Amino acid sequence: MTETVFPKGFLWGGATAANQYEGAYNEDGKGLSVQDVMPNGITTPPTEEPTEDNLKLVGIDFYHRYKEDIKLFAEMGFKTYRTSIAWSRIFPKGDEAEPNEAGLAFYDAVFDECLKYGIEPLVTLSHYETPLHLAREYNGWASRDLIGFYERYVTTVFNRYKDKVKYWLTFNEINSVLHAPFMSGGISTPKEELSEQDLYQAVHHELVASASATKIAHEINPDFQIGCMVLAMPAYPMTPNPEDVLAARKFENNNFLFSDIHVRGEYPGYAKRLFKEKGIDIDFAEGDAELLKENTVDFISFSYYMSAAMAHNMEEYDSGEGNIMGGINNPYLESSEWGWQIDPVGLRIVLNDFWDRYQKPLFIVENGLGAKDVLVEGADGEMTVEDDYRINYLKQHLQQVGEAIKDGVDLMGYTTWGCIDLVSASTAQLSKRYGFIYVDRNDDGSGTLNRYKKKSFDWYKEVISTNGESL
Ligand code: BG6
Repeated sequence: MTETVFPKGFLWGGATAANQYEGAYNEDGKGLSVQDVMPNGITTPPTEEPTEDNLKLVGIDFYHRYKEDIKLFAEMGFKTYRTSIAWSRIFPKGDEAEPNEAGLAFYDAVFDECLKYGIEPLVTLSHYETPLHLAREYNGWASRDLIGFYERYVTTVFNRYKDKVKYWLTFNEINSVLHAPFMSGGISTPKEELSEQDLYQAVHHELVASASATKIAHEINPDFQIGCMVLAMPAYPMTPNPEDVLAARKFENNNFLFSDIHVRGEYPGYAKRLFKEKGIDIDFAEGDAELLKENTVDFISFSYYMSAAMAHNMEEYDSGEGNIMGGINNPYLESSEWGWQIDPVGLRIVLNDFWDRYQKPLFIVENGLGAKDVLVEGADGEMTVEDDYRINYLKQHLQQVGEAIKDGVDLMGYTTWGCIDLVSASTAQLSKRYGFIYVDRNDDGSGTLNRYKKKSFDWYKEVISTNGESL
């Protein structure tokens, strides 16, 4: 790129989630969340109690090191920083009447630290960390009761941080509940036993809660910008056979369903047809339809890691084992060490698809490469990681973002996932690293927790300082 196409005020930054890096899982009154009993991510069923092998209990100890970490983000020039509030720090069990003051004070300190450096917080209200009590006693979002508990929680934090935080996301990757109901929706019924009726009813509860949060937010502070957050994954037909094209379209509709309702305020026709065919009858309480219609989001945010290839006759192909939502191995793409297929052009396609469909501002709030890093001594004698593979990945994706902006897409910002190494959501490993900052902690829990700048640290710093011109 010779001159920058990134708009003035573009929100460059990085993203994290409380449960994957804070640690301090039971300090200062915090209650347990679903993550505290998921030592292996989504690969095995949850445990009864937190177990020592669960890396998230300590995370990367951001809870005690947030000043050091935010200082490093500021050194990279972050304009924004995405993190989440752990619901169970504020309402330890989720159904209490009064919040936990120590939890609220912690996020005051975190946001103040960001603002000190001119970093705009971007806050996810629920990022895979439903209070465990709500999962165990109410079956998570399968219960309508969760809407009321969530409303109390968001009202509390909107009021508390109304002068500190402007950008909010209601649910992280809200569509992931279809694939990981316990992690994403706190639904304790094992996935194999969960009926589609109950699953889509849970989806409805989350969508209503999201609209309700949008309403509450705008009442508390009309300047708040509220976004939905979806896991974006474009789907390509394996052949030009119209049946394959249709299969790809149906796959994408599973994801569009969530953004369509957030942006247009009503269930689309293809969803109504799907429900009818599957015998699903969503229970709408009085006022749900109006709430959804009248409280659509201000912007659309999404994560992007990979695309999928689809066919009408999937059984005749090798499946893409690493792809979160399934699909066929795409022979034109390379894969990460975890089997996620790398597709920078797919990001341009997603951006154009969302923009053409909605004409609302977009925000890429996750993108990045999970890779095994090796700590080595750099030329200056400091320990570092020569992560050219990560730089290449991010550069190729950002170049495609630039193309999409040239296509006319209105993009608010870009935050890389796991700007500092943290615990993986799907596999609960620390060796699946995304950061510009290396954290010395290993899969067996050993390590000093010291932080080291990787080569990509200075690279990203330059991207930000030149507003993308260096790409
Ligand atoms: C997204 C999640 O699915 O992808 C994050 O919002 C997650 O929580 C990220 O960490 C990367 O996935 P993983 O499994 O490599 O950590």
